[in-house]
Amino acid sequence: MNQNQATLALSEPAPTMEFIKPPFNFTGCKTTLLPQLLPLFNYQHETFVDLFTGGGSVWCNVAPYFRKVLANDIIADLIGIQRELLERDDIIAATKALCVSKQDKEGYHRRRDDYNANPSPAGLFMLMQSCNNNMLRLNAHFRFNQTFGRRSWNPQTDIKVARYTEHIRKFRDRVTLTSGDFQQAQIPANSMVYIDPPYSATEAGYNAIWKKSLDDRRLFEHVELLDQQGHSVAVSGVSLHNGKECLLLNLLMEAGWTVTKLQHDYNGVSKVGIKQTQEVLLTNYFPGNATPLAI
Ligand SMILES: C[S@@+](CC[C@H](N)C(=O)[O-])C[C@H]1O[C@@H](n2cnc3c(N)ncnc32)[C@H](O)[C@@H]1O
Repeated sequence: MNQNQATLALSEPAPTMEFIKPPFNFTGCKTTLLPQLLPLFNYQHETFVDLFTGGGSVWCNVAPYFRKVLANDIIADLIGIQRELLERDDIIAATKALCVSKQDKEGYHRRRDDYNANPSPAGLFMLMQSCNNNMLRLNAHFRFNQTFGRRSWNPQTDIKVARYTEHIRKFRDRVTLTSGDFQQAQIPANSMVYIDPPYSATEAGYNAIWKKSLDDRRLFEHVELLDQQGHSVAVSGVSLHNGKECLLLNLLMEAGWTVTKLQHDYNGVSKVGIKQTQEVLLTNYFPGNATPLAI
């Protein structure tokens, strides 16, 4: 830990920055928080590591500001989709060829069975276009189990994918995408490491693969190691959600990490009434209000 004393601050949005939205509807996606998050990162490092990259909203928006970017997630095909889109267009045609119509529930179930028997990036991309709310959901064995959403690839998807690929391919030479458990990622010395794990206090379609308190504790120990190794580390989380607290964040706060409160409101998407939610960023450095410069 570089600083001993925790502080509470409210992050200010950076109004002049423009952001790119990945073509995935991903629970926990950070697109709306980016104006507050980006000014809090430390840009003195050569490499940015997005250790729990999910739909990749963070790495694709910081790529202009770091010489190297490493993005990792445990869901191999989610990384596979991003890797394919970074390199070439083939996955777009392959995904469209798999898509079923908005009325074809049986076709969707057949594709889901096919995917679970024989997973592939295009198979996952197709399911994410057609499933309920476009929200990926996996069981603890990484089997896709989301229901049909009566939706499919549409002209808007083409526009979103084209915008995204045009942006990320400018940074192809800087970006490395890996898939594996966070402990296995090879983090280059002296990196800015961003950590956005499943929040043990909330529900998400990938939470079945996160063993709540066990993984929270394992991650805490790993984060402490990254701190000792001299990386700048920033951890996102929800410190209070519907009265539930998060073990990882509590441990980091006890260890004296700096807390920055973020303004976010999940109440709009809640189906069970008003929830109390506090998004925070915990850092092992005192974040300034950085205006990153493209390199
Ligand atoms: C909160 S989401 C990340 C959201 C992401 N920042 C975005 O903007 O889309 C957490 C991610 O952690 C991944 N994950 C879960 N367990 C993991 C593990 N042991 N190692 C690495 N990634 C893991 C999940 O697959 C999920 O994509």
